[in-house]
Amino acid sequence: MGRAAVLTGIGSAVPDRVVTNDAFAARMDTSDEWIRSRTGIRERRLVEPGTATSDLAVLAGSRAMKSAGVADVDAVVLATTTPDHPCPATAPTVASRLGLGAVAAYDVAAVCSGFLYGLASAAGMIALGTAERVLVIAAEAFSTIIDPDDRATAPIFGDGAGAVVLAAGEQSQRGALLGFDLGSDGALADLIIVPAGGSRMKTGASPSDHFFTMRGQAVFKHAVLRMAESSRTVLARTGWPVDAVDWLVGHQANVRILRAVADQLGLPREKAFVNVERFGNTAAASIPIALDDAVAAGLVNPGDRVLLTAFGGGASWGAVTLEWPDPA
Ligand code: COA
Repeated sequence: MGRAAVLTGIGSAVPDRVVTNDAFAARMDTSDEWIRSRTGIRERRLVEPGTATSDLAVLAGSRAMKSAGVADVDAVVLATTTPDHPCPATAPTVASRLGLGAVAAYDVAAVCSGFLYGLASAAGMIALGTAERVLVIAAEAFSTIIDPDDRATAPIFGDGAGAVVLAAGEQSQRGALLGFDLGSDGALADLIIVPAGGSRMKTGASPSDHFFTMRGQAVFKHAVLRMAESSRTVLARTGWPVDAVDWLVGHQANVRILRAVADQLGLPREKAFVNVERFGNTAAASIPIALDDAVAAGLVNPGDRVLLTAFGGGASWGAVTLEWPDPA
């Protein structure tokens, strides 16, 4: 077994602007009742015009480094669906604004699974000895790709960022990332897509081609199946029976999805941490925001066995296990 990647600090940042379900109901054919009962969401945080993904990423990254008690890292990995620009990557800007010097910095694009792919990428650099310490940030100004008038997507998503510091250590340490499972199925690429703006279709025939679209029901079904399957795989790799899990911190897409994953795993629903009601679906950022929230609330504590899992566009999915670390 090579060197382990150990989580040593966490932080998050969300925009100040709170948008309630009633604010959507006032503008479009929806209701607080529909949004709450179908998704669990009560409100979300949205950026003001002019705020970019890097602005949230810098805040979350600095908080994670403070929590880890470190002033420098060797690399920055940024998981995002909404980079500041189509080119270049946003991570170097974030690294520079954090005053980190000439460190390795790159983006990871795996939509809602991005944080788990970012963890795997960072853990790989640590295992190779390319880096001793990596800042993994997941940040989204997701509302910038959402059609504000589309009731099928606008009420569901939120903006925010979360980050962790990973450091080289021992597999036996609390905080060590113990197991990974990652997967994808490109045959499902059209389930979640922004059709235009890339090399396939630079400029759309209509403005709506530049907005995010989602086949909600199909995504729901695949999300439950893949998150449950990936969780089982990673639990087997880690050698944990399901009842060893203290907390399932899943991608916060929809409270019904999180409950269904818990049910499929045979895990009591109370063990599935949920905060989608306050932040909506913040895509890649949702797991680190949820983790930071759960720790701040005193729910996830040192030594707790935590299972992370996500499903997102691509389609892509993954799961990770760790024992929650002691504070730095
Ligand atoms: N308000 C009111 N009605 C709405 C609505 C809204 N905001 N959005 C959709 N509807 C309507 C639909 O038009 C449809 O009407 P119809 O029956 O007349 O055609 C009806 O509600 C049911 O739509 P449906 O899509 O079947 O609802 P659903 O129960 O599947 O819930 C989602 C929709 C999007 C909440 C749900 O499918 C979901 O959460 N999917 C997964 C999303 C996700 O996790 N994405 C990220 C993963 S990375």
